[in-house]
Amino acid sequence: MRGGGRISSGDFEAQKAANAEAPRIPHLLKRISGLFVPHRNAIILTVVLVLIGAAISVVPPLLTQKAFDLGLFPKSGRPDLPVLYGLVGAMVALWIASAGVGVWQTYLTATVGNKVMGSMRMRLFGHLQRMELAFFTRTKTGIIQSRLQNDVGGVASVLNNTISSVLGNTVTVIAAVVAMLLLSWQMTLVAVVLLPLLVIAQRRVGQVRARIAAQTQESLSDMTAITQEALSVSGILLAKSFNQQRSETQRYGAENRNQIRLQVRQQMSGQWFFAIVQIFLSIIPAIIYVVAAYLIIGRVPITAGTIVAFTTVQSRLLFPTVGLLRVVLDLQTSGALFARIFEYLDLKPAITDSPTARPVDESRVGHVAFDDVTFTYPDGEPDKPTLRGVSFELQPGQFAAFVGPSGAGKTTVSYLVPRLYEATEGSVRFAGQDVRDIVHEDLMRHVGIVSQETYLFHATIGDNLRYAKPDATDEELERAARAANIHETIASFPDGYDTVVGERGYRLSGGEKQRIAIARVLLKDPPVLVLDEATSALDSISERVVQTALDNAAAGRTTISIAHRLSTIRDADVIFVLEHGRIVEQGSHDELLAHDGTYAMLHRQQNAPADALGS
Ligand SMILES: Nc1ncnc2c1ncn2[C@@H]1O[C@H](COP(=O)(O)OP(=O)(O)OP(=O)(O)O)[C@@H](O)[C@H]1O
Ligand SMILES: [Mg+2]
Repeated sequence: MRGGGRISSGDFEAQKAANAEAPRIPHLLKRISGLFVPHRNAIILTVVLVLIGAAISVVPPLLTQKAFDLGLFPKSGRPDLPVLYGLVGAMVALWIASAGVGVWQTYLTATVGNKVMGSMRMRLFGHLQRMELAFFTRTKTGIIQSRLQNDVGGVASVLNNTISSVLGNTVTVIAAVVAMLLLSWQMTLVAVVLLPLLVIAQRRVGQVRARIAAQTQESLSDMTAITQEALSVSGILLAKSFNQQRSETQRYGAENRNQIRLQVRQQMSGQWFFAIVQIFLSIIPAIIYVVAAYLIIGRVPITAGTIVAFTTVQSRLLFPTVGLLRVVLDLQTSGALFARIFEYLDLKPAITDSPTARPVDESRVGHVAFDDVTFTYPDGEPDKPTLRGVSFELQPGQFAAFVGPSGAGKTTVSYLVPRLYEATEGSVRFAGQDVRDIVHEDLMRHVGIVSQETYLFHATIGDNLRYAKPDATDEELERAARAANIHETIASFPDGYDTVVGERGYRLSGGEKQRIAIARVLLKDPPVLVLDEATSALDSISERVVQTALDNAAAGRTTISIAHRLSTIRDADVIFVLEHGRIVEQGSHDELLAHDGTYAMLHRQQNAPADALGS
């Protein structure tokens, strides 16, 4: 059921284009970490491996010391070969173990990272499949694709090396700080006193960078949209026929420049910060000397050795600290991408099954009715509904036709029957139930649609047909194709049913495509059939043949046929004339002619030239 208080997925693309901020998602961190919960065992193992790796790397220097003192220059004066071999063997074994642990740990992090990403892609794709038709009519395909590819892809690099990087560096930093504390707590205090400042500065830099990242992704999605629009068959045909290739290239170029600028800004943001961190950490040793001088004057016992050791350890702090800061920055940046992904995941599909939804009542299948239906498109003007007070009732097996001028709302009626859109007021009933109370998948199972614009996948004709019935036998395919008068044509192709139809079926003529679409729906064999100008792209001869096939196909099922050519619906049980979203006339062909209204006028218009020729 339609309800208030939903997140409107409506104009938010427009909003974001204006201020391209990362969307605000509550509990972002919790939700991100939630993604890793299923992999907690692998993560724990990774932590253990990192710690083992760190421990292993501490040992060889100690062994080196022993090799010198006990192996090379023992008290006896002669090198002790057995001891030396033992120690060298131990060192070799440790280095091999360390390398092995490294590879294992990389494997684990790569697996976890990619699995998390893969499951996010799946969730997003599955969620988008559930979104209502209206979402797709108002959002550019490229923009949707970009969320799925660029945004999810963008977090990949971070996911892959964050865990080990954070752990490894933390271990090193902690070890160094402990060593420094052991050497001199006073000097340690001086060395770390400015670290909180760094952390604060880091947060600020991270926020700026996240904002730039959001803008970069936004621009990237615009670029994907341009590519998708301009480099499709229809797009290229349009551009070529209007000589607009150059302007398309310019449009792409403009966005591309924007993208370059943002990428550079994103990479540069924080570089000053890191430069300052580096300078700062580098001058600490110098400051330590001064501090040490004061300590010595103040009679604190500090030896030259302590100072040297301290500054050595402190300088080892440099890389890991910068590394940690970078990772945190990357995490903040990827937070912006995660937010964009969650934003899409949080979109509420406007059309969902109610908790009390039931399957279609099989005993009344074929019964279709509109009760005083008024309908406004989600982004349409509320005071100018597309359908106004439309009521009709079809009995199982009836053939109903909808005619009327372009824009009258015929296609819209056909959308409401399978609940692709929902009535704003009134109700649409299917098999005696309100469509909002029916399990949507089950409803769809009972309706076949041949839409005004046929869509075929870039696959073979056979595969396209089997979309309706994956387990259809070759005989069934052929029977459906024969019924749609397309079998002979398909058989005449060198590859027959294995002919690849090309992007969106461009390899086929309009009429061929349409007949394949008809064959496809015949294969589905639904009890209710919606044909939106199904015969519009056929010449009058094949139109008649398809008409016969459709008449046969329509037998025994409720058929709603939308037609411009009145000749195709002459025998309809009932014809509805739509004008400005209202049913203005209804009746059989003869009744409507006798009524001498809009239908009679349309009929005269269409037959006038033929009659003139005939007489
Ligand atoms: N997604 C949409 N959002 C807003 N308005 C729409 C949408 N789709 C169609 N409309 C509007 O609804 C009205 C009815 O459209 P519809 O497609 O039902 O007409 P039609 O009778 O099928 O016309 P035709 O004979 O040209 O196919 C039109 O004025 C159209 O502009
Ligand atoms: Mg239409």
